Amino acid sequence: MSYAIIVGSGFEEFATAGQPQRVDTRFGEPSAPIRPVDFGGSSVLVLPRHGDRHEFPPHLVNYRANLVALQDLGAASVIALNTVGVISDVREAGQVAVPDQVIDYTSGREHTIHNTPQPGFAHIEFTEPFSGGLRARILDAASKAGVDCYDGGVYAATQGPRLETAAEVDRLERDGADYVGMTGMPEASLAMELGLEYACLSMIVNKAAGRGEKPIHDDVESSTLSARSQAMKILDAFFESP
Ligand code: HPA
Repeated sequence: MSYAIIVGSGFEEFATAGQPQRVDTRFGEPSAPIRPVDFGGSSVLVLPRHGDRHEFPPHLVNYRANLVALQDLGAASVIALNTVGVISDVREAGQVAVPDQVIDYTSGREHTIHNTPQPGFAHIEFTEPFSGGLRARILDAASKAGVDCYDGGVYAATQGPRLETAAEVDRLERDGADYVGMTGMPEASLAMELGLEYACLSMIVNKAAGRGEKPIHDDVESSTLSARSQAMKILDAFFESP
């Protein structure tokens, strides 16, 4: 199976690894050249979602081009790293989770590959937005790595790029959301439309707006290192040969 990892904020070091491959797709160019990176002896395609210079905020990411480019280079499975704020008390900032549900609050993003009339058009079933098999393999890798990674939770995808108001987070909680992030959609549904296996490994980097004692950016600063190092341990275990 060929894997790709879409990395979010804080993984800029991948931008210098591997031989960059430029790809053009029917939806335009991906956020950055894609690099094959060696993980435990496996070559894995790595794409920084926000670009090499972190120039694309969540609403400007070309999610369609990113996923089509990875598929064109041979990826069948995509592990999507993203950062989230935590709403419910399932987890703390500094921890990691593999969500199992999504609520989409984004708007105005190019959210489907079906942008022209197509005979025989079919609706994807999105009841389970993430691949169960890939989620289970990520969670197995977390156990192997000795990382306490939360299994499940509802990811609320907001439009950004601003953070939420406290009242908006209250509403997300009433809707049943556990985490809030800005990139999980339309990435997950596009991956499904393309027939890619897709799951998120979410790094919890702050308490959501109105939930913490300190300013959100201070929370992010003090929690990112821990969440990030746990995510890296999981990826190392994931790709380590048995
Ligand atoms: N809200 C939205 N997106 C985020 C957050 C948040 O609190 N933290 C990290 N990404």
